[in-house]
Amino acid sequence: MAAPFSRATVLVIRAVLLAVPLLSFAVVALARWRMAPEHVAFDPVPQPIPFSHKHHVGDVGLDCRYCHTSVETSRSAGMPSTAICLTCHSQLFLDAPALAPLHASMRSGRPIAWKRVHDLPDFVYFDHSIHVNKGVACVECHGRVDQMPLTWREAPLTMQWCLQCHRNAPLHVRPLDRVLSMAPMTPLSAQDVAQLTRLYHLQGVDRLTNCSTCHR
Ligand code: HEC
Ligand code: HEC
Ligand code: HEC
Ligand code: HEC
Ligand code: HEC
Repeated sequence: MAAPFSRATVLVIRAVLLAVPLLSFAVVALARWRMAPEHVAFDPVPQPIPFSHKHHVGDVGLDCRYCHTSVETSRSAGMPSTAICLTCHSQLFLDAPALAPLHASMRSGRPIAWKRVHDLPDFVYFDHSIHVNKGVACVECHGRVDQMPLTWREAPLTMQWCLQCHRNAPLHVRPLDRVLSMAPMTPLSAQDVAQLTRLYHLQGVDRLTNCSTCHR
């Protein structure tokens, strides 16, 4: 009796059967790798108004503190009120459809419901003012916000991520006049490190990695 398939066909079928499990294995491995906190590709978060830091910071040149008014003085950076947007947009782009929610918010008095891009669990203690006043720049934790047409999260916000910096805090601080600068960190000399450590009275690794520092 003649074989139902030619030799070549059998080879092809074998190859396909072998490829199926291999391929599914590869897909699962890739998905697991992508979902590990340090590899997650953070997508831009859709917002009620497609607000662009690239326009407002990168092109117009606004200071972060113009909108995030409490970033130097409290735990929370603060989100801009409708009134802050209206200082310009009561005249600029009045009729832009993208700005309709802004005008609705002005009429109703209800703030714009921005979706959170970062959200630490409640059992973690974080404070912006401590970091900003000790020379940790926005860009260290938030990346190049000035290039983001819609805001996304750059850091995994895992415990390891916090600890990585807390173990080497003196290597991650810069002079205060460069805290808002989006330029990447320039390498510091040993002398700079020693000087900034004294200037900011940086605490030891023991204190900064102590559980009760972030879980109080
Ligand atoms: C003109 C006002 C304005 C300025 C200036 C501005 N921001 Fe924002 N920022 C916003 C608004 C509105 C949102 C909420 C919408 C969004 O997430 O894009 C926001 C959101 C953010 C978020 C995400 C907040 C969250 O939900 O976790 C970060 C981080 C941020 N801004 C950092 C910065 C930094 C750093 C600068 C300076 C380089 C800056 N912003 C300057 C208005 C501003
Ligand atoms: C200091 C003035 C100023 C402030 C404050 C300001 N904007 Fe703007 N906005 C501008 C300018 C200028 C442009 C045009 C930028 C460009 O095209 O490069 C713009 C553009 C926009 C656009 C795009 C409009 C379109 O049709 O493309 C949106 C949306 C917007 N702003 C929202 C906001 C929101 C929301 C706030 C408050 C969190 C805000 N802006 C605060 C000056 C401002
Ligand atoms: C050491 C890291 C770090 C630095 C430096 C930092 N941030 Fe943040 N930022 C965070 C974390 C973490 C959150 C999330 C906080 C939460 O969920 O409670 C956050 C949240 C925010 C938010 C959302 C509102 C809020 O306070 O939760 C804004 C806006 C923001 N940051 C702006 C800034 C600006 C502007 C600067 C620089 C002046 C800055 N951040 C510097 C880590 C940092
Ligand atoms: C890029 C570096 C960096 C990252 C990332 C970072 N920190 Fe810090 N953190 C610092 C520095 C620098 C200080 C100031 C240290 C000092 O006072 O000696 C600090 C101080 C603190 C303090 C105050 C410590 C005290 O004196 O009680 C808390 C709380 C804290 N960080 C929480 C966090 C948490 C939570 C995260 C992660 C979500 C985080 N930090 C991420 C650099 C960082
Ligand atoms: C520098 C800040 C920091 C320090 C110090 C720190 N943690 Fe955390 N911890 C975090 C953050 C941020 C998270 C939230 C991480 C997340 O949601 O993935 C966290 C989460 C946790 C969780 C929940 C774990 C989980 O997978 O949900 C436990 C338990 C925990 N920490 C215990 C500790 C213990 C024990 C210590 C001391 C050895 C400690 N932490 C020190 C920042 C810190």
